[in-house]
Amino acid sequence: MAVLTFISIRQFEQSIKEEMHRRLDSNRRELSALLTEIENYLFDFGQVKSRDPNLAFGMSLNQKSALRSKLSDWIVDSKLSRLSAFDSTGRLLISYLREGNSVIKSQHSLENADVFIPEAVREELEYKEHVLYRDASRRFGLELITYNRVHNSSGKVVGFLEQSINLSGEYLKDLKERLLVDLVVTDSQLNPVVSTDDQFLQISPGMFTANQEPSAFKIRDLEYFIAPLQVDARAGQFALAAVSSLEGSKITVERLTRLLVSVSGVLIFILAVTLMALSRFVVKPLNELVVAAERVAGGDYAPLKLRRWAPSEIERLSVSFGQMVARINESRAQLQEKVQQLQVANENLKETQAQLVHSAKMVGLGQLVAGIAHELNNPISFVYANIRHLKEHTAKLFDTIKEFSAKAGVKEAQAILSKNEFEYIEADLPKLISSFEEGSQRVKEIVTGLRSFSRSEDQQAHGFDVNEGLKTTLSLISGELKTRINVKTSFGDLPEIQCVSGQINQVFMNILTNAAQAIPGEGEISVATKSKGDFVIVEIADNGEGMSAETQKRIFEPFYTTKPVGEGTGLGLSISYSLIQKHGGKIEVTSKPGKGTKFTISLPVSANV
Ligand SMILES: Nc1ncnc2c1ncn2[C@@H]1O[C@H](COP(=O)(O)OP(=O)(O)OP(=O)(O)O)[C@@H](O)[C@H]1O
Ligand SMILES: [Mg+2]
Repeated sequence: MAVLTFISIRQFEQSIKEEMHRRLDSNRRELSALLTEIENYLFDFGQVKSRDPNLAFGMSLNQKSALRSKLSDWIVDSKLSRLSAFDSTGRLLISYLREGNSVIKSQHSLENADVFIPEAVREELEYKEHVLYRDASRRFGLELITYNRVHNSSGKVVGFLEQSINLSGEYLKDLKERLLVDLVVTDSQLNPVVSTDDQFLQISPGMFTANQEPSAFKIRDLEYFIAPLQVDARAGQFALAAVSSLEGSKITVERLTRLLVSVSGVLIFILAVTLMALSRFVVKPLNELVVAAERVAGGDYAPLKLRRWAPSEIERLSVSFGQMVARINESRAQLQEKVQQLQVANENLKETQAQLVHSAKMVGLGQLVAGIAHELNNPISFVYANIRHLKEHTAKLFDTIKEFSAKAGVKEAQAILSKNEFEYIEADLPKLISSFEEGSQRVKEIVTGLRSFSRSEDQQAHGFDVNEGLKTTLSLISGELKTRINVKTSFGDLPEIQCVSGQINQVFMNILTNAAQAIPGEGEISVATKSKGDFVIVEIADNGEGMSAETQKRIFEPFYTTKPVGEGTGLGLSISYSLIQKHGGKIEVTSKPGKGTKFTISLPVSANV
């Protein structure tokens, strides 16, 4: 604002200077026009008056009194400064001078002092009707003079009429008032001789040289501008100059400066107050809104605590923004609720699907196992039942052969017996029969195991010996276990628990199969049971490859498997988990990659299945 004010003042000063130049230039033109006007006036005047017959008559007869009355009348009615009559030799006869504005004086002293028309003018008047003469002096200032020849009726020159107007004294003062500038007149050496203000008589001739651009000079530290007009004259060049100072304008500039400074001060104050108000009531609340909007854009939907501002559009804006955020919050909460519901539904769906798959699998497996067990049960039963008879019958058979051989010829009988390796057969056959017995005993056990396992569709809870369940399950998978895995068991004294045995066996089966699959070569699986309060605890540990923390977190998810496609469905543990839960029990896992895994199952003794 201060800089603006400073620049404005500078520009204003500059324009004032330019304006001054223009004004002085136009003054100079006016002065030039004025000189022409005066000279034309003088020519016209001289032309008209020189033709007056009374004038010629008075001159030719040298009738001074007649001439005097004529000339005094004429000068009074004119603008002339001086009016004179000369005889035919060029000697002054009568001369009237205007002093001040109206006083006309006869110049007797001159009339008696043999004054002549300047010689050069006189010579020119020999062949010219009228002549213009310009002169400048301290007394008369710039004098514009015209001379006219005066003829008598026969055309003879009887005298000369001289009329002049002086640009000095009163005339210059009038001009100053009209043009509002000071005026300076110089002589033919361009030295100032007359001025409307005496101080300008000190101006050096150099300032008047040409019709140049208005130039500046200083008197007593005040700056003035001058526009000189060159006037050609017989004696050389005079100058008529218009002079003006910047003083008036300077005062105006000072006043304007003061005004501008105070206006700027007031404006700065108003601006400051407006800015403060703007900052308090617009920028600050807007800033708060922007910060809040950025917070919301960054995902922070916490309810907004916007300050309350004076009633305004901004307040309305912040209130609506706050409402909008509140509504977003509401919608988000609803959305989150819906998402949670969907997640739960999805989990349930997955579980249901897993269970459907499982029960389908179990139905199929159960039917197969039950069928096989049933088919095997009868033949193995009668094989097993008949082995006792077979034993008895072979013992009897051996006794019979021995009796026969004792009764018959000893030699022949001995030869037949040794030929058919009787002794060897007698020793080996009971062993063979014992191994049949053992084999069929084992097959019977397997069939019993299969039958107990296939009771999984039997959803009725009944008393169950967990140790027996584990033994059966181990016997079902012992084929694989025997070759590469050492199974260590430590069965504690357990009470029977109430459960759906098929389902609990299924859990043992899943965990033992996983354990076996987690051991790449040879390894160990330990199975331990114990009773703890109202619970039966089963621990199944392996020293297989173990699990990463990431896998551990997900093993109970349906369909989560790390096994190649076709080898694992990822259902084993998720089914086990839901079965144990159904029985009111718990299944937990601890594992270390490379070290092994331990599953701990706790089952309530009296589950409410
Ligand atoms: N004893 C264990 N040692 C190491 N990893 C195990 C063990 N038991 C389970 N896992 C991991 O848990 C995953 C899930 O086991 P789950 O029994 O649910 O499915 P699966 O064995 O892969 O497939 P399926 O049981 O249908 O054959 C396995 O793929 C395996 O990565
Ligand atoms: Mg499995």
